[in-house]
Amino acid sequence: MFRWETDADGIVTLTMDDPNQSANTMNDLFRTSFHETIERLESEKDSITGVVVTSAKKTFFAGGDLDLLIKATKADAPKVWENVTNMKADLRRLEQLGRPVVAAINGAALGGGYEIALACHHRVALDAKGSQIGLPEVTLGLLPGGGGVTRTVRKFGIQNALLNILLQGQRHKPAKALELGMIDELVTDADELVAKAKEWIKANPDAVQPWDVKGYKIPGGTPSNPSFAANLPAFPANLRKQLKGAPMPAPRNILAAAVEGAQVDIDTAFQVEGRYFVELVTGQVSKNMTKAFFFDLQAINKGKSRPDGPEKYTAQKVAVLGAGMMGAGIAYSSARAGIEVVLKDVSLEAAEKGKAYSKKILDKAVSRGKMTQEKADEVLARITPTDKAEDVEGVDMVIEAVFESPELKKKVFQEIEDLVLPDALLASNTSTLPITDLATGVKRDADFIGLHFFSPVDKMPLVEIVVGEKTSDEALAKAFDYTLQIKKTPIVVNDSRGFFTSRVIGTFLNEAIAMVGEGIEPASIEQAGAQAGYPAPPLQLMDELTLTLPQKIRKETKAAILAAGKEWPEHGSESVVDRMVDEFDRKGRSSGAGFYEYDEDGKRTGIWPGLRSAFNSGSTEIPFEDMKERMLFAEAVDTVRCFDEGVLRTVPDANIGSIFGIGFPPWTGGVIQYINGYPGGLPGFVGRANELADKYGEQFRPPASLVEKAKNGETFE
Ligand code: NAI
Repeated sequence: MFRWETDADGIVTLTMDDPNQSANTMNDLFRTSFHETIERLESEKDSITGVVVTSAKKTFFAGGDLDLLIKATKADAPKVWENVTNMKADLRRLEQLGRPVVAAINGAALGGGYEIALACHHRVALDAKGSQIGLPEVTLGLLPGGGGVTRTVRKFGIQNALLNILLQGQRHKPAKALELGMIDELVTDADELVAKAKEWIKANPDAVQPWDVKGYKIPGGTPSNPSFAANLPAFPANLRKQLKGAPMPAPRNILAAAVEGAQVDIDTAFQVEGRYFVELVTGQVSKNMTKAFFFDLQAINKGKSRPDGPEKYTAQKVAVLGAGMMGAGIAYSSARAGIEVVLKDVSLEAAEKGKAYSKKILDKAVSRGKMTQEKADEVLARITPTDKAEDVEGVDMVIEAVFESPELKKKVFQEIEDLVLPDALLASNTSTLPITDLATGVKRDADFIGLHFFSPVDKMPLVEIVVGEKTSDEALAKAFDYTLQIKKTPIVVNDSRGFFTSRVIGTFLNEAIAMVGEGIEPASIEQAGAQAGYPAPPLQLMDELTLTLPQKIRKETKAAILAAGKEWPEHGSESVVDRMVDEFDRKGRSSGAGFYEYDEDGKRTGIWPGLRSAFNSGSTEIPFEDMKERMLFAEAVDTVRCFDEGVLRTVPDANIGSIFGIGFPPWTGGVIQYINGYPGGLPGFVGRANELADKYGEQFRPPASLVEKAKNGETFE
């Protein structure tokens, strides 16, 4: 694991190279090899003048061994504690070796990787493309338990460590890491890396960590300082405000470890950090988040939902039809990824307006120093606005984003289908129209697919790829590869009303709306949504989306279901939406009135006081836990139905689609992981779903497939 080379000056270069994996992680092999290496360094110290730590992999070090951490149960707590304690003891021995130690960071150093670097006296990094530096543990529901909290607090001060590194788990580019002091030197040439490290060793033979110098004070003060202590109560208060009551233990534990650790000596601080780490590792939330944000994302990016056969596709030139809100965003994201874009609308003016949207985003990036003017100009130059169909000639991909009308959509495809390359992908960004039906409007229905983006396109990471009945594997593979090419996350679903995302978010909103009709205090409903961990409270979100939308969709769906001779189970939300729209003319924010009131600028001013009398609100109380779980369970149970009906294909698609697309609370690890991780596992979930069904309606009744899995002791895979 550690290659050991000594040069003529007595400098030892340790090159980490796990023989069994493509990246180095803190697994058992690392732990034992590192321990042996430390022992050898100490025993051969007299002949050593310094140590360089580097890696033979593309990344410097990938971090903790998540395969192990995700499996750790409460019973494993002593083992986790032992591992992390031994690891920290060895890192401590490294920094106290009495010889200068430099990290030569050749690639990404995240999590455990940056913790190793922090235990060195100096950090030189290569400005490698895509390289990132940081402690992103919080995004997996964890904290940096290899000394990361303790050392960043000592190095940067409590406040800077929390804000720039720990609480949001930012992944910084090397240049930014240099600016923040997280690394000390940056080189652009890989050959210079180790040489620079050695230069520093020679110039600093007596290097020690600042915190090992007598009288060292943590920058910015500690709670023992009265003026710092006076500000301390604001820390947890701000955190509570940010989390809005969502059950996310990691930020809370990080804050506690940082503040408590700052008041004691470093060895005690390590113990404090370790205790909070073990609590997180053995808890459910870190498992949920690790499953979604590491394993599911990895499965998606590796192509779990992509057909194997077709060769990798790289889009060269794409036509975007419709330069409105969505088209403009799609044009930007494509051009940003290096793809040529023809942006077509009914008039040149409209197309240019669409292009101006990209300019606005690029200007902002330049003014904030996030992009050079040259690069921004290049991106913008890739977008050609036009009102002429002929200009799409030669494109290898089309994305349509005109108004939501099947006739219009079919017409715009017909206008261009003979002009584009003969095998060009034909994609629609429709949010509601069935793909199989739209495909009847083109000659090459096998090349037709849905590419459902989310608004605002430049910020939202998800694309829901919708496969129609006739869509070919080649078309799906192209859509998938294009989505990765523009650096977004694809999920793949089969065509169905509302696809996966729009359909399932509807069940969450409907539950909140039904509660209004039951006479529950609207402010409590909003609070229940926030405390369940939803990024936006449901009634507020419904106002944004406009109440006429679910009304229209429901009427269409109901008509289709009745026409098929099936039963339509009435939902409590229906009469509330109908009365809001038809009786009170409160359609949502765009019309200036909805569940909330708005001022002339469209700013929300408060919940509509009339709700109280209109729906007798405040007259009913149900347990707060029931309110939260009605929202979460409505989505979870309907997701299981999506699997039963063949709308969804894989669990990672469901989990990631629900978090990235429709704001299902991140702490759950997504809508299926919520079921798997529910207290008592699947049987626990099924039992509670039956309880909710008996109390609040059949929408909660667990489908037979889930009951069966629960009975067989399975999880939902
Ligand atoms: P929009 O109203 O902002 O833009 C539509 C654009 O299409 C307009 O600029 C219009 O001039 C143009 N257009 C109309 N006829 C055209 C033609 N014959 N040729 C070329 N351009 C034409 O609408 P928005 O919000 O961008 O939506 C577009 C599509 O994206 C719709 O299908 C919508 O359902 C879908 N969508 C919308 C989302 C949203 O949040 N707004 C989210 C996901 C999908």
